[in-house]
Amino acid sequence: MKAVVLDTDDRFHLTDVARPAPGPGQVAVAVRYAGIQWGDVLVRRGHFPVPRPFVAGFEAAGRVVGVGPGVSEALLGRAVTALTAGGAFAEVVIASAALTFDAEGIDPRTAAAFGWATPTAYDLVHTVTRVRPGERVLVHAAAGGVGTMAAQFARAAGAGRVVGVVGDTERAAYAARFGYDRLITRAEFAAVGEGRAQEGEAFDVVLDPVGGATRLAGLRRLAPHGRLAMYGALAGSAPVALDGDELLMSGRSVMSYNSDLLSRTHPERLADSARHALRAVADGHVRPDVTAEYEMADLGEAADRLARGGTYGKSILRIEPHLTEPEPDLFS
Ligand SMILES: NC(=O)c1ccc[n+]([C@@H]2O[C@H](COP(=O)([O-])OP(=O)(O)OC[C@H]3O[C@@H](n4cnc5c(N)ncnc54)[C@H](OP(=O)(O)O)[C@@H]3O)[C@@H](O)[C@H]2O)c1
Repeated sequence: MKAVVLDTDDRFHLTDVARPAPGPGQVAVAVRYAGIQWGDVLVRRGHFPVPRPFVAGFEAAGRVVGVGPGVSEALLGRAVTALTAGGAFAEVVIASAALTFDAEGIDPRTAAAFGWATPTAYDLVHTVTRVRPGERVLVHAAAGGVGTMAAQFARAAGAGRVVGVVGDTERAAYAARFGYDRLITRAEFAAVGEGRAQEGEAFDVVLDPVGGATRLAGLRRLAPHGRLAMYGALAGSAPVALDGDELLMSGRSVMSYNSDLLSRTHPERLADSARHALRAVADGHVRPDVTAEYEMADLGEAADRLARGGTYGKSILRIEPHLTEPEPDLFS
């Protein structure tokens, strides 16, 4: 079958690989679309210790074409979206049945865009910071995959005010479609943090995938009993010093969220959140926004755009089933 592999030259190559078979507790999914996400940038930069050549791709939408031992055959032929540990940039991917979700009736592009970003955004709002009606929420990387979904979940949870931070005014114009009350640029946010502007507004919840100075500035903007959830390190992993006594006296909390770790330690918890999030998508309460669709050969270009902040919302990869001889059970 065809797959896009990441090789030791740090480039993506469209090539032929052996079709994988599902093991115990796993399903094989014939992929129609795969989501492209920040993890693909990180894996190319060598942040994860994976053997090369490596078939990347951590989120896939398609149909179940095989089940391993212990998995119900009733899944065969079902449209699904799957959170994977890699392998989604291929005609067939192997996924844990526990992290494969029924997506019948959902457009496959939307199902692919669902990815890790939507359950992550759901968890940040509902199980980590537990946004309450009327609360003020600040969302960093507000025009990105997680950011656009988090704003919608926060709004649906009854947040009183949702403010987003973006790279520039063009990105602010895009993000404005997702329920933000106000959008500010990173420069504006930093200026307030450094005291070069009037005191900024306070927030009950800050969602921070950035780190560094942004994290410290976010802490300063937290209202009493506020919660800052850190879930990424877009600006690098430099340590940030926290004053525990100061947090205690103001009732503020710093929390973290790691969906990849959760998928390995408590997959049932991630699955529960993913099902809630998928229902919200199916019911039209929130929507992942697909803004770019690439062919398999163009994955490198897609990852470059993502890495330099040149994307909005979600990019997806179209998997062409005609690239190899279709197998009767696979694409009929
Ligand atoms: N912990 C978890 O479970 C989990 C799960 C999913 C994703 N994540 C993390 O969440 C982050 C966002 O993921 P995503 O899928 O939403 O990515 P995405 O759609 O690619 O959005 C990333 C956006 O972040 C902004 N950005 C890039 N560099 C930045 C910097 N130095 N400072 C501030 N903002 C910067 C850019 O938008 P602007 O230019 O508009 O700011 C960029 O488009 C990543 O760090 C990812 O690893 C974590």
